[in-house]
Amino acid sequence: MPGKVRICFVCLGNICRSPTAEGVMRHIVHQEGLDDTVELDSAGTGDWHVGNPPDERASETARGRGFELAGQARQFRPQDFDRFDYVVAMDRSNRKNLERMAANDAQRAKIHLLRDFDANAPKDAEVPDPYYGGPEGFENVFDVVEAGCRGLLEHVRREHGVG
Ligand code: 4NP
Repeated sequence: MPGKVRICFVCLGNICRSPTAEGVMRHIVHQEGLDDTVELDSAGTGDWHVGNPPDERASETARGRGFELAGQARQFRPQDFDRFDYVVAMDRSNRKNLERMAANDAQRAKIHLLRDFDANAPKDAEVPDPYYGGPEGFENVFDVVEAGCRGLLEHVRREHGVG
């Protein structure tokens, strides 16, 4: 019986992209019957929105696609590197901030960019920050996040013999 796989998605504010990635991945993991195997969370590198629910525009977009976003924003802490197997950044700036926070090579090795799991995305592709844009930005976030999450789950299956 393989152990659990723990994944934390990370963006800047933890109200738009990383709660979206957590919600999309939760939806996919549930469809695949892996709720008891894959543990999910999200966090932000910044602290401006700590305690807030997901951005209403992200929640609205999720509802349009048939699921709800949940959770309250929190800031990523150095101890989180020990709690998770995968620390998955939405953009290169998030990744850089996480790399600065990592205490050693084992922690640094847990840091990934979400879209690097999408075989159709160029290397180092980002999930664009939708915060200051319109609703189409949120639709795009869901599309690119879903492709990344599907690739990430395939990777987890291969690496951990899950499912
Ligand atoms: P997120 O989006 O990092 O995807 O949650 C943002 C949320 C808030 C801000 C920027 C991006 N902000 O500047 O407050």
